[in-house]
Amino acid sequence: MKTKYLENTEKDIKTAAEIIKNGGLVAFPTETVYGLGGDAENAASAEKIYAAKGRPSDNPLIIHLSKASDAEKYAYTNELFYMLADRFCPGPLTMILPKKDVIPKAVTGGLDTVAVRIPSHPVARAFIEACGTAIAAPSANISGSPSPTSAAHVKADLDGRIDAIIDGGICGVGLESTIIKFKDGRAVILRPGAVTEEMLSAVVPVRRDLALFDKPDENTRPEAPGMKYRHYAPKVPVTMLKGSHADVVSFMKEALGKDNATGVICYESDRDEIKGRNVSYLPDDPEGQAGNLFAFLRGYDESDAPCVYSVTPPRTGIGLAVYNRLTKAAGFSVRHVGLNIPVIGLTGQSGSGKSTVAAIFARRGAFVADCDEVYHSLLKRGSPLTKELKKRFPSAVKNGKVDRPALAEIVFSDKAKLDELNKVTHGVILDEVRKRLRSAEKEYKFAVVDASQLFESGFDTECTAVIGVCADDETRIKRITERDGISREKALSRTKNQHNGDFFRVYCDMTVENTGTLDKLEESVDKIIKKYIG
Ligand code: TXA
Ligand code: MG
Repeated sequence: MKTKYLENTEKDIKTAAEIIKNGGLVAFPTETVYGLGGDAENAASAEKIYAAKGRPSDNPLIIHLSKASDAEKYAYTNELFYMLADRFCPGPLTMILPKKDVIPKAVTGGLDTVAVRIPSHPVARAFIEACGTAIAAPSANISGSPSPTSAAHVKADLDGRIDAIIDGGICGVGLESTIIKFKDGRAVILRPGAVTEEMLSAVVPVRRDLALFDKPDENTRPEAPGMKYRHYAPKVPVTMLKGSHADVVSFMKEALGKDNATGVICYESDRDEIKGRNVSYLPDDPEGQAGNLFAFLRGYDESDAPCVYSVTPPRTGIGLAVYNRLTKAAGFSVRHVGLNIPVIGLTGQSGSGKSTVAAIFARRGAFVADCDEVYHSLLKRGSPLTKELKKRFPSAVKNGKVDRPALAEIVFSDKAKLDELNKVTHGVILDEVRKRLRSAEKEYKFAVVDASQLFESGFDTECTAVIGVCADDETRIKRITERDGISREKALSRTKNQHNGDFFRVYCDMTVENTGTLDKLEESVDKIIKKYIG
C-alpha cells in the first residue's frame, strides 16, 4: 500500500476523514504522541490497526472524541468522569468506563470497558470532527518500540502499512496520556502522564495501580494490558543507573572512555563533562525530559551504540511518567554505581510509623541511616551547617546553636524560605548519608535510608526501591499528640503542609499500610526484603 502524506489543510483533513469512513487507517498528531486512527465503530478497522502495528489483539485501543459529552454515545459515564473532564479535557487524560454496544469488542481487546480520551491538539480535533465518529487509536508505532512524537517517526515504523499520515509537527507533551480507571470513588492511575497525581488529586481522590512499577510476572495480566514488560524500547539494551549524580557521571565518563560509541542519556547540565558521539542530553526540567525521551530512544536504533546507560530522573510531577517509560524501556534493568549494596528508601507522613518500620529493617540486618538524626548531628554548635544557616536565617541561630522550633516557625508559612532551607540542608544531609552508606557497605547486605523528604531531596534516584509508610489520618494525629506531647490542633497544623497518604501510594514503588499491628508490619517488611533484596 502507498501511504499518503497529508498536511493540516481543510482539503487534506477531508481526505483523511474519507479514508476513515471507508474503513482505512490514518496516523494523526495529538498533544501527547501520534495516534494510528481507525473508525471506532468498525471492528474491521480495529483489526487493521492491530495488524499494522503488529500488536496483540488483546491489548485494547483508546477511543478519541472531540468533546466529553460525546462519551455518552459510547460509554456509561459517571460523576467523577465529568468532574475530571471539566478540569482536564481536552487534554492528555484517558478515562476507562464501561462500554456501550456500539463499540465492538475488537476495539477493547475483548473487555467490557473502553478507554476514552479527548485530545487537545487542534489537528486531532479537526480530524475527529471531520470524521463524525469516535476514532480508535493506539500510538502510531510498531508494537514495543517508542511512541512516535513526529511524522518522521511514524513514517519510519508504518510507511506502506497504513493509508495516510497527517503531519502536524512535533508533539508537545511527548509521552502518552495519563490513564485512569474509577474504583470506590477514586481515580486509579494505570499509566502516569502529563496530568499528574497532584493535578488529579486536587479534584478527586487518587491511587495508583499497584502493579505500575512492577516487573509483571508471567501469570498476571496488568490492568492496562499495554503496560507490559519491555516496551518503548530501542533495539539495544538500556540500563538505568542509580547513585549520586557525581557517581553516575563518573561511571558514564569511564564507559565512554572505554568505548566512545556507548549510548548515554544524561542531563543538559552535564554537557561540558560528558561527551561522545551517542550522548543524548535530557533537558533539566521534567517537561523537557518528557518531550525528548522518545526521540532520544528512537535515535539509538540508527546509531552504532552497543548499549545505552541512562540517568534515573526524579519522579516529581510529570517526572513520574518519564521514570515509568524509562524503566520499561530498560526492561527494569538497573545498575547501582558508587555503592555496592542495595538501598531502600523509606518515606511517608509523620506519625505513619516510619521509625517503627526502620527498626524492623534494622532487626532484619539492614544498616539504617535516619536523615532526621543525621540532620541533628550536623547541627552541632558551630558546625558548618549551623554557620550557613546563621547567614540565611539569622534570627533562628542563637549562640552558635540552631533553634529548630524558631526555624520551623520561619519556614512554615513561607514557601520561598522553606525551599531555601531545603536547598541548604538536603545536600549536606545526603552527603553525610552517602558517607555512612559507603562505610557500611562491607559489613551489611543492604541499607535503609529513612527520609521524610526523600522525593523532594532527589534521593529517590539513588534507591533500589522507595517504600512509603502510610496510616489513616486519625491514627497519625493520635500518634503525634502522644509521642510529642502536643495538642491535636498543633499536630493537625504540623501535618497540614505534608503530602497526603495517596501521594505516597502513587509515587512509591510499594507502600506499607500501618494499621497498628506489629505482626502485619513485620510481614510487610519481610515481603519487601524478599522482593528487592532477595
Ligand atoms: O496519549 C495517548 O494515550 C496516545 C494517543 C495516540 O492518544 N495513545 C496511546 O495508545 O498511548 P496506546 O494504545 O499506545 O496505549 C493505550 C493503553 C494500553 O496500555 C492499553 O492496554 C490501555 O491503554 N487500555 C486501553 N483500553 C483499556 C481498557 N479498557 N482497560 C484498561 N486499559 C486499557
Ligand atoms: Mg503505545
